[in-house]
Amino acid sequence: MDISKINNSMKKKLIQSTTAHFENNFQNSPEHISLSPGRINIIGEHVDYNDGFVLPAAINKYICFAVSQNHNSECVLIAKDLNETYRFDLNDEIKPVNIMWVNYILGVVHQLKEKGADLKGFNVVFSSNIPMGAGLSSSAALECGIGYALNKIFDLHLSKKEIALIGQKSEHTFVGVNCGIMDQFASVFGKKNKVIKLDCTSLEYEYHKADFNNYSLLLLDSNVKHTLLTSGYNDRRNEVEQGLEIIKEKFPEVATFRDCNEKMLSDLKETLGDLLYKRCNFVVKEIQRVQDAVAALENSNFVQLGQLMSETHLGLSQEYEVSCDEIDFMVNAVQNEKTVLGSRMMGGGFGGCSINLVEKGSENDLIEKIAKQYKTVFGIELKAYKVKVSKGTTEYKK
Ligand code: GLA
Repeated sequence: MDISKINNSMKKKLIQSTTAHFENNFQNSPEHISLSPGRINIIGEHVDYNDGFVLPAAINKYICFAVSQNHNSECVLIAKDLNETYRFDLNDEIKPVNIMWVNYILGVVHQLKEKGADLKGFNVVFSSNIPMGAGLSSSAALECGIGYALNKIFDLHLSKKEIALIGQKSEHTFVGVNCGIMDQFASVFGKKNKVIKLDCTSLEYEYHKADFNNYSLLLLDSNVKHTLLTSGYNDRRNEVEQGLEIIKEKFPEVATFRDCNEKMLSDLKETLGDLLYKRCNFVVKEIQRVQDAVAALENSNFVQLGQLMSETHLGLSQEYEVSCDEIDFMVNAVQNEKTVLGSRMMGGGFGGCSINLVEKGSENDLIEKIAKQYKTVFGIELKAYKVKVSKGTTEYKK
């Protein structure tokens, strides 16, 4: 069976099982069913909160939501995969609790209430086939999926952009990660076979063909998630903010990292100190790399695209220091493979996946080879995902 058929049948199964679970629990059919996807990012890492550009895309792995109004003020949330239920009343103060998955949803409900949305009680069942902790943004899919579903059933007239921003704010306030906008934007705005070039300052965006010719995107999942993720992420944000303040003092013409160049940074090397210099230098170069990568993609210059991806990894690992031994190993292991044009860690870092630009047809051999080496060194099973670039958050209609 070809891969797109397998993927379609996985999607159908997810929808069926989520719907059936809803019906068993609430004795009626859901009023609304939606699918909210995870994302990949071709290039542009840790620059969404630095006024950079990013190049993400939604993928064919989803969280499915089955939702109905229940005509009272209670909300019933069922996480099917965890076999957990959480109830709360809309009239009570909404604040973070100590169950992580609940916070993603409460954060969104809180935002909606703040905006004066006319919410009423609802029942929801959700279930996912996005691997958790793999850096594929299951959290953004959860935030945006619930935002999208509530927007539909309560007719809130929110735009896609608002849904993405609400998701991001929810992550800041109820989850504690000061994330950028990339993940939520990609989840909501994804389009089949298109990558999104997003200007993270203006939120203007354009779609580019996700056509890699004889190459495909292969994700290798390290199967590790280091606890540093939240603190490491927020630390990086603070470091670059400090760096930018110093740069602005010396160069008043600089408003954001986008106005900054490598020469300015080297002039300021001493004042910035080693650490801030490294961090800022990564950001400035990464912003440029995204521009170059878009040109390479448009010109079908996949060798160059691959090189840029590998340069990004080096920067993330050595200058931004958000990689880890396991991911560095996976990336280094494919460096001399003729069938691999580029490889890098993807997402926030400290674990998760690498994204690889790989010759079509060579994927299985590569997976087998790297998995063996990885198992020998770390004693961990490597996972691999062949993903397809797909549509963003959407309603499912029978
Ligand atoms: C996480 C965040 C994003 C982005 C990436 C790194 O996925 O949620 O906003 O900063 O890390 O590029």
